Parts: sequence; structure tokens; C-alpha cells
Amino acid sequence: MTATTEEQTARWEWIRAQTPVMQRFTYVNCGFSGPISRAVAEAMDRRLALEVNDGPVTRNVQDDKMATMTRLRELGAQMLGADVDEIAITGNTTEGVNIAVNGVDLQPGDRVVTTSIEHGGGMIPAYWARERRGADLAIVPISHDDGPGAIIEKFDQALGDQAAMVIVSEISYSTGQLLPMRQVIEMAHARGATVVIDGAQTAGHLPLDLHALGVDAYAVPSHKWLCGPDGLGLLYVRKDRIADIAPVKVSGRLAAEWDFEGGFTPKTDDVLKYEVSTMSTPAAAGMVVAIEQYLGHGPQAVWDRARDLTRYAEQRFDRIPGVEVRSSRGEDTRTGLFLFAAEGLDATELAPWMWDAGQVVCRSVKEAGAVRLSLNVYNNEADVDRAADLVERALKEGITPPANGPGGAGRPEEG
Ligand SMILES: Cc1ncc(COP(=O)(O)O)c(C=O)c1O
Repeated sequence: MTATTEEQTARWEWIRAQTPVMQRFTYVNCGFSGPISRAVAEAMDRRLALEVNDGPVTRNVQDDKMATMTRLRELGAQMLGADVDEIAITGNTTEGVNIAVNGVDLQPGDRVVTTSIEHGGGMIPAYWARERRGADLAIVPISHDDGPGAIIEKFDQALGDQAAMVIVSEISYSTGQLLPMRQVIEMAHARGATVVIDGAQTAGHLPLDLHALGVDAYAVPSHKWLCGPDGLGLLYVRKDRIADIAPVKVSGRLAAEWDFEGGFTPKTDDVLKYEVSTMSTPAAAGMVVAIEQYLGHGPQAVWDRARDLTRYAEQRFDRIPGVEVRSSRGEDTRTGLFLFAAEGLDATELAPWMWDAGQVVCRSVKEAGAVRLSLNVYNNEADVDRAADLVERALKEGITPPANGPGGAGRPEEG
């Protein structure tokens, strides 16, 4: 049954009320790191209290750990449209991308295709493949106003007759663009390439069905749109690719059998071979609740709401003379990431100034010469207005050099 508009609005108001930071600041930065709700924090507190009071590996606490990890894998599989035996728990997106990219036996001269709108988490593994394996790296130049047709055409050219790998974000951190992944994957597979997707900006944002997508490997984080704790992520590897994508770091989880006389049999087709060792159970408990919360909102409803907020932001910022929208506004490419440039103002100064002057938490993307607002379901139109009012003021009065603070001067703008 689909929710009525009133029910949906009530849900967004509820999650805003349940997200403490939203009572204090205008937080529009989940593309960097999403704010934790009370329920996520409580789940982490409960698990930590259990460890503190009963001891970390006392039997009941161990049982709770196993149950939490199992639940995380199951929910991860449900969210990603995958089977549980295709999901490994990682530390973050970048780790997942690295596992998949470095696990393929690339040969000198093998073509690796990526784009000009990748985050360092995808771009550096691509350069590393060139550096260490001698891959022939092709970088598809993509502009924020390219539509699906133009993007497909550019990929078609870059892939050539044969390609070994594609490393690409499904939603770009620097243009906010949704890429036509299904077509790119089809073209890449027709050339024999393995497709590794950086899903840092998709999980908890875009409804995902990885079996339908047909991708080889897909990495996501807990801490961005899902609003889980940081320090965890998930890696999906399609069942039939697990055996030939080798793990880059190994532990007992790789071993079917081993002894001290030289006997060792690896479990090549078990996805758990990608997990190395002990992980934080309080973080896993928080991520479980973050995924439950997201699935409870409804992935399609979240996607629709995020894009409605971006539409609203486009209209609001279009009315500010001197502002140029730098995110993608096509119906097929628009997401909850909204980027803009303000004439005469350096984005890397404007974003921290917005914190100093109005307690708006956002980030700049230097590569795009833009400030980025991440618009998630706990945000509302008033958040967009607040950011827009500040930009109007900055354009009128100018800005003073930023002080320290969230997103302040000299802070890394990585996320
Ligand atoms: C597209 C993209 N890829 C990778 C990352 C890095 O993510 P993680 O911290 O999960 O490795 C980010 C953001 O930080 C991103 O936006």
C-alpha cells in the first residue's frame, strides 16, 4: 500500500524530530556524513553497555555479536537487492572498491575506464591500477549537464573494442549526477569488462536492485545517506564473480582448512573471504537500525523526496542573481545532491562561511567550483531557504575569511 502525502509528510517530520542535530543546525551534508538519529545512537549505546557490563566476549555478548552481524548482512542484502552470500562487511566504500579493483588480475595494457567526476575513493584505485599493473587508463570526461545519451556515447568510445574494467560512481559526488548504469554495464560486459561501482552516494538515497543491474561489484558506506555510524560499509560481489575476484588482505576467514604442516585450503567462493577480522559491533548495531529506518521510510519515497528538495533548491537558487546551479537538473540525472556557484565567491570559502554566519553545515567541491547541499528526508524546504538567504547575503555584503568549525577553514573537504 502506498502512503498518502500526509502520511509521508508526517514521516519526514518524524525523522527530522528524531535526528537531534536538526534541532540545532541546518545540516545539509549527508553526502559527506549523515546525522545519526536517536534510534541509531540508542542501538549503539545498548551494545556498548552490554560489552561494558557483561564483558566483550562473554557467551551472551558473543551471541549478540553474531546475531547483529547476521542481521546486518541480511538487511544489507535486502537493501541492495542481493543475496546474503554476496555481501561482505567492510570498513567503508573505498575499502570495498579497493578489494574489487585489486582483486582482478589486470595485465599490462588492459583498458580501465573511469570518469572525470569520480571521488578520490574511485579515482586513486584507478590510477593505482595504471601505476602497479600497467593498465591503460581512459578517463571519460563528463559535464554536469550531460544527459544519459551523451554519457552512454562517451562510455561507448572510451571502452573501445575490449576493456578489462570500469570503475565508476553511480551518483557523482561532484556533479550530483545519476549515471545510466544499466546501459554502461551492458556495454562494459559486451567488451568483457568487470564493472566496479562506487556507491558512496547511493545507499540510503537511490533504490538499489543489484541483481537487476547486473553489476560485478558494488561498494557502499554506512555513514552517508543511510545515516549510520562511520567505520562500516558493505561490498556486494555477484555470486559468479566471487571465485575469481581475489581478496587483497586475508585471514582465517579465507581458510577452509589449515594446519602447521603446510596444509592450507582456501575458500575461494565464499564472500566472507573479503572480511579480514574483528569489527566494531556497536557500529554494526547502529548500521542495522540505520538500514531498518531507511527501509521503513521506503527507498522510492526517499528518492522522490530528495529529488523534490533539489527541485525546490533549483527554483529557489535560480532566483538569486549571480548564482549558477552546477548540479544535474535533468529528470533522469537529478539526485538529492544540489551544487551551486556564486559569482565572485570562492566556494571553498563560502561553505565554511555559511557555517560561521548561519550554522549551515555543507561542503564545497573544489573540482566543481561549487558548494554542495545534500538534501535528505530529514531536511525540508526551510533548510534550503536558510542556505539560499545566506548566499543572498554573502553576495550582497561579501564574506569574511572563515574561522574554524564544521567545514571551516583548512578542513579537508573529502566526503
Ligand atoms: C563518490 C564517493 N566515493 C567514495 C567516497 C569515500 O567514501 P568512504 O568514506 O565510505 O570510503 C565518497 C565520500 O566520501 C564519495 O562521495
